[in-house]
Amino acid sequence: GSNAMWGGRFADGPSAIMREINASIPFDKALWRQDIAGSRAHAAMLAAQGILTAEDAKAIDEGLQAIAAEYEREGVPEDWDLEDIHMTVESRLTQLIGPVAGRLHTARSRNDQVATDFKLWVREAIGQIDTGLAAVQAALVTRAEQHADDIMPGFTHLQTAQPVTLGHHLMAYYEMLRRDRMRFAAAAERLDECPLGAAALAGTGFDLDREATAQALGFARPTANSLDTVSDRDFAMDYLHAASLVSIHLSRLAEEIIIWASQPFGFVRLPDSLSTGSSIMPQKKNPDAAELVRGHAGRIIGAATALSITMKGLPLAYAKDMQDDKPPVFEAHGLLTLSLAACEGMIAGADFDTARMLSLAGSGHSTATDLADWLVREAGVPFREAHHITGAAVARADAKGCALAELTADDLAAIDARVTPEALSHLSLEGSVASRQSYGGTAPDQVRRQVKAARKALGLD
Ligand code: ARG
Repeated sequence: GSNAMWGGRFADGPSAIMREINASIPFDKALWRQDIAGSRAHAAMLAAQGILTAEDAKAIDEGLQAIAAEYEREGVPEDWDLEDIHMTVESRLTQLIGPVAGRLHTARSRNDQVATDFKLWVREAIGQIDTGLAAVQAALVTRAEQHADDIMPGFTHLQTAQPVTLGHHLMAYYEMLRRDRMRFAAAAERLDECPLGAAALAGTGFDLDREATAQALGFARPTANSLDTVSDRDFAMDYLHAASLVSIHLSRLAEEIIIWASQPFGFVRLPDSLSTGSSIMPQKKNPDAAELVRGHAGRIIGAATALSITMKGLPLAYAKDMQDDKPPVFEAHGLLTLSLAACEGMIAGADFDTARMLSLAGSGHSTATDLADWLVREAGVPFREAHHITGAAVARADAKGCALAELTADDLAAIDARVTPEALSHLSLEGSVASRQSYGGTAPDQVRRQVKAARKALGLD
């Protein structure tokens, strides 16, 4: 037979293929709470405007509440003939309260309905991600405070560059996540306009109060252009783009954890609870959680790309392609939520081998810059010359197979008269790190200042 919702002009019903390709209920049933909330707000507004009688509105509202209780208990049934969550709810409402259910869709289209539902869902998802980001930040700040004084090699090109503190390194990730939270906050602000009332694409001839439904659903205001409203999925792409950046940050953190946990580095032991073993090599303890966080970033970035490509060629206003907006967002949200939880656990439970870090912090003449800086400060040598003189000292130390601080007075005299043995007493790791007092630098005092500001921002104090 033909479709009960829209089949009036059809002689034949959809084929099996049509029904299958058309059905979004397998995934958009996740929107049931939002769909019912949107319908309740719409019906209440219709009644307030005199478009629905108070009696009909009451029957509709009670029916919708009964459906919510039912779905909460039993889940949402999946009937492909009902296509999507919107028709699934309406069809159940008809079963419960009869033909009056058919009045609910007055002055509404599934086009403004789905945009509203999805915005409500994304708004909640943004809140959940913000909570997850704050939890990872709190773990980072706690560990950074514990390790504000612990010295490790700092890298550029993954070559030992200058000593830094572990606390400083951890706080770098705090900053990335701080920007991520700002991006999600900005996305939430742009999302804050209610689509209800745009109807199919042109608006409606009914005297709606769009301000009222916007307010009832917690939006700042109604959207301004009905064509834009039903064709806009910027809010979903905003979510995915912000999620991509988070996943990039978490993936870099995961990559460092993986490197640090490797035996040649030996900087960190991961908690057993977030590691796995090998089925053949009994000694193995693998950083699988970190590897999956790194892997999931690929899927999250892929989701953002997928929706961007779905949207880029669509003429105004709605097209069914847009039904494909939800799976990438749902998938990315699930993956990101898990990744955040895994990162929080790994940071909180990491056993940093600070002795090992310290023992490697001086390798590769990591305080050579301090020798050049000494020449500038104490001997008035221009930095470029100081750099050259220090380079010669590094070459000499390498030739002798010793550290810079072990060069003799004769070694130094042969390089340049201005570099004296006194200079070599300023090359300690502790001295190097403590001297980096510039705002945002690695000196323990500076790290503690960063930690203090972060704890305040997170409301931890
Ligand atoms: N299931 C649809 C979606 O998610 C709802 C909108 C249907 N609108 C329409 N004109 N067929 O996009």
